[in-house]
Amino acid sequence: MGRLDDKICLITGAARGQGAAEAELFAAEGGTVWLADVLDAEGETTASRVGGTYRHLDVADEAGWQQLVDEILNRDGQIDVLVNNAGIFRSNRMLDTPLNEFDLVMNINCKGVFLGMRTVAGPMREAGSGSIVNISSLAGMQGAAGAFAYGTSKWAVRGMTKTAAVELARRGIRVNSIHPGLIATEMADQLPGGVERMQRGIPLGRSATADEVARLALFLASDESSYSTGSEFIVDGGLNAV
Ligand SMILES: NC(=O)c1ccc[n+]([C@@H]2O[C@H](COP(=O)([O-])OP(=O)(O)OC[C@H]3O[C@@H](n4cnc5c(N)ncnc54)[C@H](O)[C@@H]3O)[C@@H](O)[C@H]2O)c1
Repeated sequence: MGRLDDKICLITGAARGQGAAEAELFAAEGGTVWLADVLDAEGETTASRVGGTYRHLDVADEAGWQQLVDEILNRDGQIDVLVNNAGIFRSNRMLDTPLNEFDLVMNINCKGVFLGMRTVAGPMREAGSGSIVNISSLAGMQGAAGAFAYGTSKWAVRGMTKTAAVELARRGIRVNSIHPGLIATEMADQLPGGVERMQRGIPLGRSATADEVARLALFLASDESSYSTGSEFIVDGGLNAV
């Protein structure tokens, strides 16, 4: 028996990195997996590797969300799990952050999560159950000097998670956030100062694999986390404890 048997799951930003690892693990655990991204070629390749369905979705596009969720409901009849994983990173200190960079990061990392939650909450409410997992960051728990827009967006994800969790709890919908530290994906390569330097400050002495985050997402997506909502789950090799 799989831990996600009979669950219809949608994962954004699933063409590569953590989203792809989640898609692979969720499918291996019996879930029916829909992968969404803007990298269509990588998305199609990942979907066929894991046995899921890929669709183009820019998470900042309100109409695109509705279209995709309608398609999922038409084909599979329900939606049980949403992982709001898509995100972008930009490194600029507050004083150097251009407005268009701030708007871009907030549109994808923050508005994208809001639109995702709002679009799936309707069908989940009708079904009386659902699990939404929002990927924030350790940057949503601490000051993120040098990544002002990114840090702001990840604090917003943490806040939206709590408010949505309280609003949706009586409808049977759980909403939690994951706060990864340093994860070895293409995004980590964009960090100012480089991955090597940052790794030295991590108590476990290394970055995580995408799969190590996917295992936590699996727990939150599944019924095993039935009494957790509105909570923050950290996967950071001890960085937050320093
Ligand atoms: N890598 C890290 O160290 C780290 C740490 C903390 C949090 N995170 C968060 O984890 C999540 C996954 O990132 P990752 O590490 O796998 O990086 P990644 O860059 O490999 O993956 C991000 C994915 O999101 C997709 N994406 C970007 N904009 C999109 C849009 N508008 N619509 C749909 N998809 C879009 C990208 O195409 C890509 O496939 C992100 O939310 C990121 O902020 C990453």
